[in-house]
Amino acid sequence: MSVSLYNACAVVGASTLSYISFKTLSTLLFYLHSSKIQRYHHGHEPWALVTGASDGIGLEFVNQLAQRGFNVILHGRSETKLKKRLSELQPKYKTSFKLLVLDATAPATPEFDETVLSAVQGLNLTVVIHNVAGNGEAKVDMPMFLDFSAKQCDGWIDVNARFTTHLTRLLLPVLLKSQPGLMLFMSSAVTEMASPGASLYTGAKAYLEALTKCLNVEMKMQGHDIEMKSLTTGMVATTQTGRSEKDVSFVVASTRAFVRATLAQVGWSWGTPRITPYIGHWVQFGLITSLPTRLQDMIVISMVKKVQAQMAKRD
Ligand SMILES: NC(=O)c1ccc[n+]([C@@H]2O[C@H](COP(=O)([O-])OP(=O)(O)OC[C@H]3O[C@@H](n4cnc5c(N)ncnc54)[C@H](OP(=O)(O)O)[C@@H]3O)[C@@H](O)[C@H]2O)c1
Repeated sequence: MSVSLYNACAVVGASTLSYISFKTLSTLLFYLHSSKIQRYHHGHEPWALVTGASDGIGLEFVNQLAQRGFNVILHGRSETKLKKRLSELQPKYKTSFKLLVLDATAPATPEFDETVLSAVQGLNLTVVIHNVAGNGEAKVDMPMFLDFSAKQCDGWIDVNARFTTHLTRLLLPVLLKSQPGLMLFMSSAVTEMASPGASLYTGAKAYLEALTKCLNVEMKMQGHDIEMKSLTTGMVATTQTGRSEKDVSFVVASTRAFVRATLAQVGWSWGTPRITPYIGHWVQFGLITSLPTRLQDMIVISMVKKVQAQMAKRD
């Protein structure tokens, strides 16, 4: 081998090794460091607002934020269900709770703005978690695009993208008053892989990820200290997905483990705004996306069929 070829191979080898070492180290750092959520627990009586807080992951966010001393506004569409949650939460924690009852399909009228703004008026709001998702109906299903009616199209877009956009429009100026602040957007593994039966959900989640990315830079450009993150999430055991604690595994997170992992990943001043907080999901996506597209599609189709079967059992 000539000296120049030998040198070229050595440079390529050293660069590859450095890249792998850097990636491994930053991944370990990302998943192993402790939570910095307390960065947002500042000022007089800090508040967090969680959308879609009457169940599943949203309700677990409420619990873990209250455990960390945050007062929490629970958003949901059913006042009865939210009041029931309130009666379970209040005896457990010393913090305060408020309710924001709003159907996420509601149009952004002046009354809508008034309801949102009066819920946060006078509060030291430092955290907003955009968790709500759905199709505007009582139950979520997985129709193929060809089967969508106009109303169903609007339902998916309204709940998953439009509502979150309007809430951000109203709440970002409120967060700016109590900097540093945190805004999280729940996204999904569907943005990593093509998911049949979830086209509009996928489109909406991709929209939220893109919105987060831009807002993150806009905040920096304007000198604001607001952390913006979207959470690329794999399977979490909630009633909506037809999963329960007994289905929890390395790749199916419990709500508790998922939320704990998420709260551990915030408060950093560096890193990308699009994160996969739960390590089992990160490994799963990494393995699947490294496969040839045809194989990825086969795996995704089989996963979707399983989810459809679980959802059918739920019904
Ligand atoms: N679970 C997973 O495997 C998974 C995976 C990837 C991403 N995610 C994301 O994680 C988030 C939470 O998921 P989850 O499984 O915890 O869902 P979930 O158990 O179905 O909870 C959804 C919450 O949103 C509320 N909601 C639904 N439609 C609404 C509407 N029109 N107006 C107001 N509130 C409404 C629900 O209220 P009700 O109680 O009245 O129904 C509930 O509080 C979502 O953004 C989802 O896309 C979940």
